[in-house]
Amino acid sequence: MSFPDGFVWGVSTSAFQIEGATSVDGRGPSIWDAFLADHAGACDHYHRYRDDVALMRDLGVSAYRFSVSWPRVLPDGEKVNPAGLDFYDRLVDELLGAGVAPYATLYHWDLPQALEDLGGWPSRDTAHRFADYAAAVHERLGDRVDTWFTLNEPWVAAFLGYGAGRHAPGRTSPADAFRSAHHLLLAHGLGARALRAAGAAKVGTVLNISPVMTPAQVGDPARPLAEEDAEAVARIDVLANRQFLEPLLRGAYPEELLPVVERACGDLGHVREGDLEVINQPLDLLGVNYYTPLVVQAQPSEPADPAWPGSEGVLFCTVPTAVTAMGWPIVPDCLTRLLRRLSGEYPDLDLMVTENGADFVDVVTGDGIHDVDRVHFLEEHLRAVRSAIDDGARVRGYLVWTLLDNLEWADGYRRKFGLYHVDFATQRRRPKDSALWYRDVIRRGGLPPTRPKRPTLETVAARAGVSRATVSRVVNGEAAVSAQVRAAVLRAVNEVGYVPNAAARSLVTRRTNAVALVLSVPRPGGDALTAAVVQYVTSVLEGAGKHITLMLADTAESHRRIVAHVEAGQVDGVVLLPPERADTLAERLARTGVPVVLLGKPAIASLVPYVDVDNAGGAATATEHLLAAGRRRIGMLCGPMDLVTVQDRLEGHRAALARAGLRPHLAFADLTIGSGAAATRRLLGDDPSLDAVLAATDQLAVGALRAAREAGLRVPEDLAVVGFGDGEAAPATTPALTTVRVPVADQALALARLLLSRLEGRSTTPVVLPTRLVVRESA
Ligand code: FCB
Repeated sequence: MSFPDGFVWGVSTSAFQIEGATSVDGRGPSIWDAFLADHAGACDHYHRYRDDVALMRDLGVSAYRFSVSWPRVLPDGEKVNPAGLDFYDRLVDELLGAGVAPYATLYHWDLPQALEDLGGWPSRDTAHRFADYAAAVHERLGDRVDTWFTLNEPWVAAFLGYGAGRHAPGRTSPADAFRSAHHLLLAHGLGARALRAAGAAKVGTVLNISPVMTPAQVGDPARPLAEEDAEAVARIDVLANRQFLEPLLRGAYPEELLPVVERACGDLGHVREGDLEVINQPLDLLGVNYYTPLVVQAQPSEPADPAWPGSEGVLFCTVPTAVTAMGWPIVPDCLTRLLRRLSGEYPDLDLMVTENGADFVDVVTGDGIHDVDRVHFLEEHLRAVRSAIDDGARVRGYLVWTLLDNLEWADGYRRKFGLYHVDFATQRRRPKDSALWYRDVIRRGGLPPTRPKRPTLETVAARAGVSRATVSRVVNGEAAVSAQVRAAVLRAVNEVGYVPNAAARSLVTRRTNAVALVLSVPRPGGDALTAAVVQYVTSVLEGAGKHITLMLADTAESHRRIVAHVEAGQVDGVVLLPPERADTLAERLARTGVPVVLLGKPAIASLVPYVDVDNAGGAATATEHLLAAGRRRIGMLCGPMDLVTVQDRLEGHRAALARAGLRPHLAFADLTIGSGAAATRRLLGDDPSLDAVLAATDQLAVGALRAAREAGLRVPEDLAVVGFGDGEAAPATTPALTTVRVPVADQALALARLLLSRLEGRSTTPVVLPTRLVVRESA
């Protein structure tokens, strides 16, 4: 898996995240100093840059993308501070001395506070200030730096900084966000022009381009989309990607964007004549930062996300894939798709992956820092880059985010993206396994033929300073080993995270590292949930080093077998998807003393912690929606009353009616469409002027739609119908079903997390997730 000749291997950082020294040599405050309390030291790179450049030399990188701190260079936004430039002067010389090409980014989010006080990015003047700043930096470094990036991720600066307020300066105005985006682009144009005029060799900019897709497309990119989902995907693509790509590379905003901006800002006055020509400078290189895709679907009642003004009716979704410690889904394939798309749309443009990396929990031991997950992440993403190159994408290099564990913006120091571990108490840097791996990749100009392995018996032996045979004896519980040696081996086993097979492990540690996932007979309508649970629980628990044993609890005999298995200490924990009806399996399992977690509130009061959704709240909201629409004669189709979910949904419905001074009309059904139709007919027979039906499940609601059609009633004019669940069928019924969404993936994820915290001896409280009304045509 080698890469083209001249392919650039490198690392990226940013000034505010590593430099520290925020008040030395005349540096002025930046918006981030004001936004974050207690951040000051970062990696003290300002004083340790020589050591850090030495780390890069050890890695063998050919390029280093750093950012220049604007408030160091122009502390008050106006006057150049030569001492601030001196630092970059020294840094650049040090890099060149080490054979590393300096790539300078001019704006990586640290606006001088003085300029924020004058209006910040919503003010046009900031763009002009940026051009002056770019010229000042080029004047000092231009003789030695030939690759320049104007901006880093303008979407983040504008929309997280001025729209959602999650980043500095923490403003929350959709109008300011759009104006900032435009002025950032303008700053790029003016800055690029100034750099070029001063003789810069290569001018580029860096965008966070995120592939946008529905949850189903994550695994199946070719999956055709329902019209409303296609619209949601296209709209977010405009906001995230095309808003920046098209002005930069085509000199025009996407047509679909302007009405959205106009609505947010009141007018388009901030986009002046001639701006787009300025923005559309020739680009030598487009930097692409990729971490994770944007996953969305249509959701009619959803309000706009503050980070995405214009996203009304779009739901940002979680997806059932492995995630980083930050919770970002890991989808390397999206990087291939993204690079291919860019090269397809802009065939003459050179691309570079300017950031890619991941936050994971590292295993820190005396002999090293083991980050198998990061190595896998980087390796898979490099494969993805290579596939794109094979398909003709013009990718010139790959820069890992990031050299050092650092200050991850609003998340502070708890995020670990570095190839090098930093002990922030001592500022000691230590290479992680990923640094050693990357060094090897760079040396061979590509990926090694075999994938890195999880720690082996040899690793443990080396760590404990004993022979492999001794490790094996300890792992197999043989007595002929001294207590001291045994302790040393077990310590090494723990430290390197060695996972012998389950049987061997149980002999040594009395822990099996196995978890049973017990599924009861599939419940009606619960297939999607069961599938999500299997997927998530497996992914999260395997990520935590557990083996999953799947067990089916469908007969009394199987219950006995499962209890015996757990009693025999074959597993450390159990995730149970109980049958919906009252049942004793949970209690029997709980009595074994092994941690058990349940999906759904158990029928019998129990101490077993569970994950459930707010069924009563969902039914109340649905009922209130009908009441607000003027419906007064509302019937409820209840499913079997021995199901706890049905009881809860009925209770929520009753409570909402009672608040409006009304009484329920109930009809009972089993869980089939046919019985839903029959129960609806009974309700209509009792009260021909019935004007709404709330069904306890989507299936029953489909039955109600059928009965209404047969009775010649129009939905929703004569009879409004609301379901519960929002399964796959709901948007496809005629008319499309208004229903209460039960979060499927979130429940599954919560269940996995609940078991993990139980295994760590924490948390036994139930988790109840919110439901949400999805309004479509039927009500
Ligand atoms: C990118 C930023 C970078 C870092 C990584 C994790 O969006 O450019 O500074 O925060 O994310």
